[in-house]
Amino acid sequence: MKVTTKPFGATSKGQDVALYRLENASGSCVNILDLGCIIQSAFFPGKDGNLTDIGLGYDNVAQYETCGGYFGAVIGRHANRIKDGRFVLNGKEFKLAVNNGKNHLHGGVDAFHLKVFECLGYDDEKIAFRYVSPDGEEGYPGTLELIVTYKLTDDNKLSLNYRATSDADTVVNITNHLYFNLSGEAGNNILDHTLRIFASKYTENDDGCLPTGVVADVEGTPFDFREAKPIGRDIALENEQLKFGGGYDHNFSVDGEGMRPMAELVSPKTGIIMYTASTKPGVQIYTANNFPERPGKTVPYGEHCGVCLETQFFPNAMEHPHFPSAILRAGDVYDHTTVYKFGIVK
Ligand code: GLA
Repeated sequence: MKVTTKPFGATSKGQDVALYRLENASGSCVNILDLGCIIQSAFFPGKDGNLTDIGLGYDNVAQYETCGGYFGAVIGRHANRIKDGRFVLNGKEFKLAVNNGKNHLHGGVDAFHLKVFECLGYDDEKIAFRYVSPDGEEGYPGTLELIVTYKLTDDNKLSLNYRATSDADTVVNITNHLYFNLSGEAGNNILDHTLRIFASKYTENDDGCLPTGVVADVEGTPFDFREAKPIGRDIALENEQLKFGGGYDHNFSVDGEGMRPMAELVSPKTGIIMYTASTKPGVQIYTANNFPERPGKTVPYGEHCGVCLETQFFPNAMEHPHFPSAILRAGDVYDHTTVYKFGIVK
């Protein structure tokens, strides 16, 4: 992979933002910002050989700062919701910034998606970024050092590695919030994309999109994606869970553990298939529901413009001891990898 870099403006606080362009031998390329380690765009070939930008994003820093949506960004310290913005660890209560009704969402008000990371350098294999989150930031205990490493291989694998350490016990759940539209952003919406998820269970939500604690079978529900089906097939069915999220906004408990396949997404238009694998226990499928219109890179974005596959620990795990634990002990290493591999369906 070859890396080139250029300026991408500055934040409202006056910090310079740079764009790093990763290009592989087959001509595919991924543009990354040091702001939030954002994947700003990602070009992979479709069945006609044309490069397609498969990730939604904005054109400038001001839009990333003000228009919302967490496009392409690294989410931390903790992806998704933490109920009432509080948790108890080692018998002590921690109060977090609240930014989603009464709840804490995606790391809080001034979270990782808005931080300019330090680029630690790059070579022909990888590029690495670092952010040190001070003790107490957004309410979280411990000074947390996070290193995000991206790799783009010649066979069109984009891998994202998160490595974090803390000087005090804390909770960590890092993900990437890229919205995929494998037809390209002008491809209208993702309801025609077929999705397969290697999960026989998902976590049921309450009406605030927080897990109730019930880990339910997908069998016989609109959440059964064990065989690929168009995302739009069941999304409008009469179903309380779908009503809560205005569509899919749920955590799937992926079968197996360790690095393993999680999902496959296909655009019938471009023939692009994306294989997702991860070391995380779950994946949040969010189909851009209740989505206000936002400016896009070439077209405005609206309802169901993209689909996020956010590999993660289950939301609000601190309240549900039967969920995999998101606790990171002082001195331990949080080390998780997610791989998105792009190909063409036969
Ligand atoms: C996540 C959540 C959604 C929504 C988006 C951000 O995927 O689960 O409910 O908050 O992020 O718009």
